[in-house]
Amino acid sequence: MKAVVIRKHGGPDVLSYEEIDGPQTTKDHAIVKVDYCAVNHLDIWVRNGLPGRQVLFPHILGCDISGTLVEGFGKFKKGDNVIVYPAIHSDVPRISFSIIGGFGKYHGGYAELILIPQKNIVKKPSWFTDMEACALNVSYLTAWNMLERSRCKKGDTVFIWGANSGVGSAAILLAKARGFRIITVVSNENKAGLARKLGAHLVIDRSESDVTTETLKYTNNQGVNAVIDHVGAKTWPTSIDILKVGGKMITCGTTTGGEANVNIRALYSKEASIIGAYLGTKLQLIALHKFMKSNKIKPIIDSVFSLKDAQLAHQKMEESSQFGKIILKVSS
Ligand SMILES: NC(=O)c1ccc[n+]([C@@H]2O[C@H](COP(=O)([O-])OP(=O)(O)OC[C@H]3O[C@@H](n4cnc5c(N)ncnc54)[C@H](OP(=O)(O)O)[C@@H]3O)[C@@H](O)[C@H]2O)c1
Repeated sequence: MKAVVIRKHGGPDVLSYEEIDGPQTTKDHAIVKVDYCAVNHLDIWVRNGLPGRQVLFPHILGCDISGTLVEGFGKFKKGDNVIVYPAIHSDVPRISFSIIGGFGKYHGGYAELILIPQKNIVKKPSWFTDMEACALNVSYLTAWNMLERSRCKKGDTVFIWGANSGVGSAAILLAKARGFRIITVVSNENKAGLARKLGAHLVIDRSESDVTTETLKYTNNQGVNAVIDHVGAKTWPTSIDILKVGGKMITCGTTTGGEANVNIRALYSKEASIIGAYLGTKLQLIALHKFMKSNKIKPIIDSVFSLKDAQLAHQKMEESSQFGKIILKVSS
């Protein structure tokens, strides 16, 4: 089968498009022919390598998969259109789970065939095309989980970093459908226009304006009910600063670094909370599908690359020139 393999950590040039042996079926597992695999920032973390996290080389990236079942099992038939719920039991103490194609033993979806536990197979919801369906299992699920953990109600104000990111664009769409007021941040005018089109109520261009000043002006100096932070070290101080009394910062990512300065006094004196979110459960994924269908929401797709052009897809994500999901078309 064709696959993009990494044999060491490094830049996009370590992504090697090759012919390799396909997987063999094992007990309680199924083989899926991968049709599409969305690119996520996790792919860049794994490709670059992180201190203390092991990858067994050669490794195949890709956690956001839609495809077709090669053999049936249980209620599933050969040829069924499916998606892959990417959380896998973790052997690492004090980590909830590992992710398919991530820092774990399971290969991911940058390959024509993938072997995964049967319990991770989910029927593809018919509301979505095969291409759209691959975009839901990581960014959208995480954004859904973060918004649920915020416990925001209709009319509350949610601040969402990075409108163009996978997580940020998903959070804007889902928050809009829940009736929240949305403040979001971009880094140029082109992204600002697209964020307004998604329905954000206030779009702050951080290359032009001070994020805290604009947010406090918009909220009459009260601050926001919740912050969706996937950016990490560089944004945590602002995220805490702009929370209102009793506000919640929900965090899922460390794009700018994993060690942040926290103003502890600001945090406790407004009785705020910091809440971690890691993906979401399979039940949440199914609830997300239903919510998106009933609210007629489709994922925002920026671009589609063929598998052999995975390097270009990674370069695009590293430049942050996308707005929404970057997708690899894996099988023709
Ligand atoms: N915990 C989980 O289960 C989970 C699930 C999904 C994702 N994540 C994590 O969440 C993060 C986002 O993932 P993604 O796939 O959505 O990434 P992505 O599409 O590559 O987006 C990265 C975003 O970070 C923003 N950004 C970078 N530097 C910034 C700065 N200094 N200030 C403000 N914004 C900045 C970029 O905004 P500009 O383009 O405007 O610079 C862009 O919107 C990653 O760290 C990922 O690992 C975690």
